[in-house]
Amino acid sequence: MTQNAFKRHLITAALPYANGPVHIGHLAGCYLPADIYVRYLRSKGEDVVFICGSDEHGVPITIKAKQEGKQPQDVVDHYHRIMQEAFKEFGISFNHYSRTSSKIHHQTAADFFKTLHDQNGFQVQETEQYFDTEAQQFLADRYITGTCPKCMQDGAYGDQCERCGTSLNPTDLIQPRSKLSGNTPVLKKTKNWFLPLDRLQPKIKAYIESHAEWKTNVFGQCKSWLDQEGGLQPRAMTRDLDWGVKVPTEDAAGKVLYVWFDAPIGYISATKEYLPDTWQQYWKQNDTRLIHFIGKDNIVFHCIIFPAMLMEHGGFILPDAVPANEFLNLEGEKISTSRNWAVWLHEYLNDFPNQQDVLRYVLCANAPETKDNDFTWHDFQARNNNELVAILGNFINRTLVLTEKYFQNTVPACGIITEKETALEANIRATPKAVSKALDQFKFREALTEVMNLARAGNKYLADTEPWKAISHNADYVATILNYALQLAAHVCILMEPFLPFTSKRLQHMLQLKATHWNTLDVFIRLEPGHRLEKSELLFSKLDDITIAHQISKLKPSEPVNTTQLAPLNATCTFEDFQKADIRIATILHAERVPKTEKLLKLILDTGIDERTVVSGIAADYKPEQIIGTQVCIVANLAPRKIKGIESKGMILMAEQPDGKLLFVRPDAIHSVNGAKVK
Ligand code: MF3
Ligand code: ZN
Repeated sequence: MTQNAFKRHLITAALPYANGPVHIGHLAGCYLPADIYVRYLRSKGEDVVFICGSDEHGVPITIKAKQEGKQPQDVVDHYHRIMQEAFKEFGISFNHYSRTSSKIHHQTAADFFKTLHDQNGFQVQETEQYFDTEAQQFLADRYITGTCPKCMQDGAYGDQCERCGTSLNPTDLIQPRSKLSGNTPVLKKTKNWFLPLDRLQPKIKAYIESHAEWKTNVFGQCKSWLDQEGGLQPRAMTRDLDWGVKVPTEDAAGKVLYVWFDAPIGYISATKEYLPDTWQQYWKQNDTRLIHFIGKDNIVFHCIIFPAMLMEHGGFILPDAVPANEFLNLEGEKISTSRNWAVWLHEYLNDFPNQQDVLRYVLCANAPETKDNDFTWHDFQARNNNELVAILGNFINRTLVLTEKYFQNTVPACGIITEKETALEANIRATPKAVSKALDQFKFREALTEVMNLARAGNKYLADTEPWKAISHNADYVATILNYALQLAAHVCILMEPFLPFTSKRLQHMLQLKATHWNTLDVFIRLEPGHRLEKSELLFSKLDDITIAHQISKLKPSEPVNTTQLAPLNATCTFEDFQKADIRIATILHAERVPKTEKLLKLILDTGIDERTVVSGIAADYKPEQIIGTQVCIVANLAPRKIKGIESKGMILMAEQPDGKLLFVRPDAIHSVNGAKVK
């Protein structure tokens, strides 16, 4: 079916595991592109439902619960709320965000399984699985690690090697170890229900091959699965675990559905929950277009296993597109929740309040669409300052300020029209088509570039026509210039909505723009002469080096901490004792190594009261260039001391980790006043 023949869209974004907060990798990988696409469709007036929810089963959850000494339900309750909130804050506009621990999901997933079971859709097989005799538990999926047989990297999981992407069975691992006890597991017989992917191979193959238009990374991965030696293999859809959807057959005590069986059914149960009466239209009618936005580690599950389940069940449509992104790295290293190597959305919001669109912009402009990409804070700063501020913000600001100044904030009627205007109009009219074309192909970077190019053209138009000069001798033409610049601003406002929804809204208010639907974009005149504008304000502001240095210095990988190694408490001290120490906030202005020492840095601090030198034993933990601009706490009334011939006046507060690493104690806000008293 061609895209235009579809009557409605069902868009899903991968259900994130509820085992940690959301970071930029999640956003760039699938939630942002999905949201852009959905906003675009809505703007065109399409019927679209956007579904997501928390993936609350599977070993990632139970491992997290064990680490935190909590029940799995408490872990998922906690993170479900945090994740839902973060998505909302960043404008990810799900119609419904559900969760897989809900009753409706358990029911839906169990029924789905039952249907397949009753149709003889499974092979029941007794196989030998790894078992941890100490923990008395079978070791499914991520409960087991070992060396990957493909790339020989240690630390591969029982279901997948994250390094080379190969999908594995626990018994494929070389030197397997239990995640629970660290012991070498033993093999023990157990019965499980297998989806006979081998038998389904011809159907799956035909389905995949009918989608040669899929992104090359997606299509290629599917092909290599199908073409592997021996073809697709039967895959167990049940597990010997106690956290998950109970297997709904009589002889299955102590077994739950494999998380990758139940989670994608979560898309169905969430739609049901959202649209109890009409959900079937979205899942069962051929004129619905089903699109799954995912990260590349999810390809096989969405392109092979879930479609196989849907085909076997019968009655459901199949995914028509599966735009999968590659991975986003952070400052050259793989993002990792467990190592705390990430930019967390909730922390970003704390440090950059109301600047969600800046992050959305940078993550889209630099999206890992065709290859892995790197997020760096310097690139973030550069894109903000050189693109959002200097191009988009600057164009809008100049246009609005000049209209305020010359035409009392009212859209002027055009005077004479020259070739420049004709060319500009052609450009404005062509852009929506170019943006649409890119979006229809899931080329989000290209689409965003087109929008920015229009703003760029606006800037150039102002630079070429110089209304601020022309006003003295050719006021008639200035009316034309600002009229055209305002039409351009209105078009940009509509075109940027999917990417920068918050900014678009502000601009819409300033322009007092009524209709913002994409399908009205063929109308060139968006703002009639005489139309009143609102007062303008700056859309973006420059980010300085200190702010960026602060973000870079915040990045510190952590190893999981063993809390039994914490230092014992000191003897009691009175409040008066404590009050003797005068602790203040100060900014590091300058840092350098103290020559011929291993550990010492010489720092110049702005304490708000004075600038002073402090020698600090942190050279093993921080590089000088990394900490300039950072705010820290110092004991400001400590008696001065000479260290290596340098007079040190005060001491910086550090949190000593059990492994000896030192971390700054920082004020919560980036810009506390220097000299503020810590009490
Ligand atoms: N929780 C999985 C992950 O984060 C994605 C699940 S997608 C779904 O990798 F299809 F299963 F829902
Ligand atoms: Zn590998």
